[in-house]
Amino acid sequence: MLYDVIVVGSGISGLYAALYAKRAGLHVALICKSNPLRSNSAVASGGINAVLKTTADDTCDHHIQDTLDGADKLARPSAVSAMVKGAEEIIDELIAMGVAFDCRDNGEVAQRPFGGTSAKRTCYIADKTGSALTQTLFTQCRKEGVEIFPNYVMLGIATFNEKLSGITILRRKDSHVIAFACKSLVLAGGGFAGIYRGHSTNSQESSGDMLAIALRAKMRLANMEFVQFHPTTLLNSGALISEAARGEGAYIVDENGERFTDELQTRDKLSREIVLHQLAGHTVYLDFRHLGEELINKKLPSARKHALNGAGIDILTELLPITPSAHYTMGGIWSRNDTSTDIDNLFVCGECAYSGVHGANRLGGNSLLEAAYFGRVAGIEAARAAKKGEFHPIDYALVDKESRYVEMILEGESRFNINTMRRNLGNNLYKNAGVFRNHDSLANALEYIHYLMKMSSGLCCVNKERSDNVELISIIEFRNSLTVAEAMVMSALAREESRGVHYRDDFPEKDEKNYQVDTIIRRLAGTFLRISFEGHLSSDWWHRIRQFFHTR
Ligand code: FUM
Repeated sequence: MLYDVIVVGSGISGLYAALYAKRAGLHVALICKSNPLRSNSAVASGGINAVLKTTADDTCDHHIQDTLDGADKLARPSAVSAMVKGAEEIIDELIAMGVAFDCRDNGEVAQRPFGGTSAKRTCYIADKTGSALTQTLFTQCRKEGVEIFPNYVMLGIATFNEKLSGITILRRKDSHVIAFACKSLVLAGGGFAGIYRGHSTNSQESSGDMLAIALRAKMRLANMEFVQFHPTTLLNSGALISEAARGEGAYIVDENGERFTDELQTRDKLSREIVLHQLAGHTVYLDFRHLGEELINKKLPSARKHALNGAGIDILTELLPITPSAHYTMGGIWSRNDTSTDIDNLFVCGECAYSGVHGANRLGGNSLLEAAYFGRVAGIEAARAAKKGEFHPIDYALVDKESRYVEMILEGESRFNINTMRRNLGNNLYKNAGVFRNHDSLANALEYIHYLMKMSSGLCCVNKERSDNVELISIIEFRNSLTVAEAMVMSALAREESRGVHYRDDFPEKDEKNYQVDTIIRRLAGTFLRISFEGHLSSDWWHRIRQFFHTR
């Protein structure tokens, strides 16, 4: 199959990228590893940030400043500014596509406060914003002729003489490895918070596949140590109870009914306060009871449903036990403001990308904005590159290598249980690379990851079925998780300071002199990883010179 542009990932960023590449008049494929509507975007329920003409007491400058403050001096100001200034247009465009944002009585888009700001800046659809946006964009992509391939799992990037030529894919319906050729590629396949299995708001599908693939292709990953823990998730499952709850006035209390924290501070600080309160022997709850049935049913219906289904608790009358869980990964595949990367004609957007806007901590409501804004940029840029580009041959030795990899997992003798290993990785990471970490805990995590890497060669399918083999996909995802976990923990070990969500109790202070820079990790020969620290401009000069001469 030959496409001008291939987009991998069907969350908001991928859908936006595909839509804009298609609108440039190109032949576009959207690849997603499972059900296209089950992306992580669909879970981000609380809302999308934007300063609108109708927003009271707020400006783009405030939004930019809140984002930079939240990011703890590690965001790229030019990227933040571009995103914030593009936000109103995104909201208008979504409304034009049919998204029915909640409105005030006068018909203007309603907005609620989220953590890290006093402004009411977050536009929403009850507490189902992400899924409403995803559905609308998906319908729009279909309407405009994007070819959608559900249940196609990307395995690798194909290059020929160092030029992008396409991707290798596992087709789930028959477990065959195939290749699609393209002139431009957009990776939008999500982050890796799912590797904290059992302690994550993400499904296990958020296994960092794109990042593992990028690392294998010798691309740079940036700021992998910055993993955001969402403060309010169900105690026993990690299911998300949206920040919308606190935005609408729910309290955080302990077993004595005491409020012990500011509910609308940033997620990093709130998560730390909750964990410290738990370590002091308390149980922590969300308290909705004073909000009343009418408000809860109108603005927080999903919170009520998740509490009932996931914990058997009716938030109208009962306290809901909560705890922080891994929710979002700020780090990702290194990219510039135009979403371009280390490989020409390869663009990244959404959670798998390091876009420079979230730095060391992301504000709630900025992820959907980032996904939409940079998804659109990626679609436009990928289309532009495809129009100037050409197809390059696919090296079938690569397809053959990937086929052998899949066959080995399918046909080999199974010695270990994938579910146990995945759960053990999640427990170990939560304990050792969680809300609090230090050298010893991280070293422990790294040692465990290396142990699991050795064991994972004995992970093969018990079920030898070739059609839609869930176990096969889980094993591939788990191996990617280990690759990403190693990069994350090594980055966390290297950053000997505390900043944003990365809190080292052996280095509790921020170190502006040495660490106000991005952590860059890339694979050298074999599987050896190299870590360096880079400022925002230092690595970009060669690209700028090339662009300058290209546009003359
Ligand atoms: O709490 C939430 O609704 C999550 C939103 C986000 O991560 O931006």
